[in-house]
Amino acid sequence: MYVLGFNAFLHDSGACIVKDGEVLAFAEEERFNRKKHTYEFPENAVRFCLDFAGIKFSEVSHVGFFWNPYKEIIYKWLPFFRFMPYSLSLFKKGAAINPFMKRIASMIGAKSALYDRFDGKGGKVPQFHFVDHHISHAASCYLVSPFDEAAIFVADGYAEHDSTLMAHGRGNGIEKLETVKFPVSLGQLYGAVTEYLGFKICNGEGKVMALASFGEPKYEDLFDRIVLPTNNGQYKFDFDYIGYQRYGLLKTMSDRFIGETAPPRVRESGLDQVYMDVAASLQQALEKHYFRMLNVLYERTRCPNLCLAGGMVLNSVANGKITENTPFKNVFIQPAANDAGSSLGSAMYLYHKFAKEPKRVPLNHAYGGPSFTDEQMEDALKNSGLKYERTQNVEKDTARMIADGKIIGWFQGRMEFGPRALGNRSILADPRKAEMKDILNARVKHRESFRPFAPSIKEERMSEYFESEHSAPFMLKVYRIRPEKIDVIPATAHVDGTGRVQSVSKEVNPRYYNLIDEFEKLTGVPVVVNTSFNVRGEPIVCTPQDAISCFLSTQIDCLVMGDFITRK
Ligand SMILES: [Fe+2]
Repeated sequence: MYVLGFNAFLHDSGACIVKDGEVLAFAEEERFNRKKHTYEFPENAVRFCLDFAGIKFSEVSHVGFFWNPYKEIIYKWLPFFRFMPYSLSLFKKGAAINPFMKRIASMIGAKSALYDRFDGKGGKVPQFHFVDHHISHAASCYLVSPFDEAAIFVADGYAEHDSTLMAHGRGNGIEKLETVKFPVSLGQLYGAVTEYLGFKICNGEGKVMALASFGEPKYEDLFDRIVLPTNNGQYKFDFDYIGYQRYGLLKTMSDRFIGETAPPRVRESGLDQVYMDVAASLQQALEKHYFRMLNVLYERTRCPNLCLAGGMVLNSVANGKITENTPFKNVFIQPAANDAGSSLGSAMYLYHKFAKEPKRVPLNHAYGGPSFTDEQMEDALKNSGLKYERTQNVEKDTARMIADGKIIGWFQGRMEFGPRALGNRSILADPRKAEMKDILNARVKHRESFRPFAPSIKEERMSEYFESEHSAPFMLKVYRIRPEKIDVIPATAHVDGTGRVQSVSKEVNPRYYNLIDEFEKLTGVPVVVNTSFNVRGEPIVCTPQDAISCFLSTQIDCLVMGDFITRK
């Protein structure tokens, strides 16, 4: 049985196809249409999924959409009326990424948008379902996790009504335990302060997380007055400090908040200490309430396994501290924990609902996107007029170049799903040189100087370099680097001595693993710097042509595509 899932019209549109409980293909639309975090209909991603499965649309049994717009219509008016007349501002231009009425109309039309494009008229057509957003998120992690039972925690900006969900997964069932209702939303508060700090919501939260390490939580008391714990792990807000429920993106934090901190930071302007302190205080508040809720969830489920999804759980700094701050022993975070992953979740939920004897097939990788043949890669190189060579040992030759200080564009196999490049669409460099961070920024990435670059390490060497016994295959947990190793891999150490590490397993990605292994043979260090293969503001590359364009428009020294090597 084939089930297709897709998400669209909010942000990070994507699609996924599941066959008999196994995820066959999944991809985000931004990689195809080249618009970062696109909310457009994922036509390319759906087409890719069907092509990969080798089926026609009519062969799909069920289609899941990641959201129930009818439910949202009922519930979103409640906060709207509560904050009248100010909330009329929510209809103004710029108050939302995709304005409410337009978005709801698009979502209600999601079925026609899909069926019109993919010949879904007449004859046998798949059955269409709106799946509740947080059920999509919950299914996206639990139903592909290695666990038969798990506590499930979902948190994001908002769903149709909820912003946080605690649930209990057993077998193929998901039981809801507690919810927090929008506009109360830790995820939305994090996004609101992200906007206040001069970064974009749904894009800059990771920057705020990195910035937090440079500040002191001097506004702890302020955030304690904003976020107020209630029963059963829930919380409420003092909305006098917050603006998004009244003005949307036009003013995400209120005058009262500004009066106690500083005026909102203008985008791209200097970063005064006050903004770093606000970021640190926000991060501290998030962690405090995140762990408090997880502890309640543990008490309710008494299960050592935890599954996480939703945009808020991309907070890798907090994720890295979960096992220290809660009784949970095993934490599974789906690689696309953000909304893109809810396409996977809606498909997986429907499969388990409708299959007669549903199978559980754990997902241990994020390589769900397109791959390209040698011929396609060679054609792209020829068409671009670049000189290239074919190597007999790509891992060894690439490791040598990295050890010689070169910056490598590394394009291999199937593209990753989710926000992280995990060794198939990556830019790689030598972690041993502290100055490599500035070199990468000056020559390729042009990112904010306070943001760290991530390490990839051979899985079995994790605990030797990081203060953790746990693997981190999807780069969604930050761990402290062991003090004696910080000087060994300084290019990957953040200011507070941590790293957002990816543990690489030989089984899951043998080519990438072998490359790191060859690098270790040369240098004694089983780690490389891994940052996504893109330039600032653009999605990660998808095709050989994208990789060549990125290579030509930056000062990447060398492009390694399959077995082909092109040098500048
Ligand atoms: Fe979400």
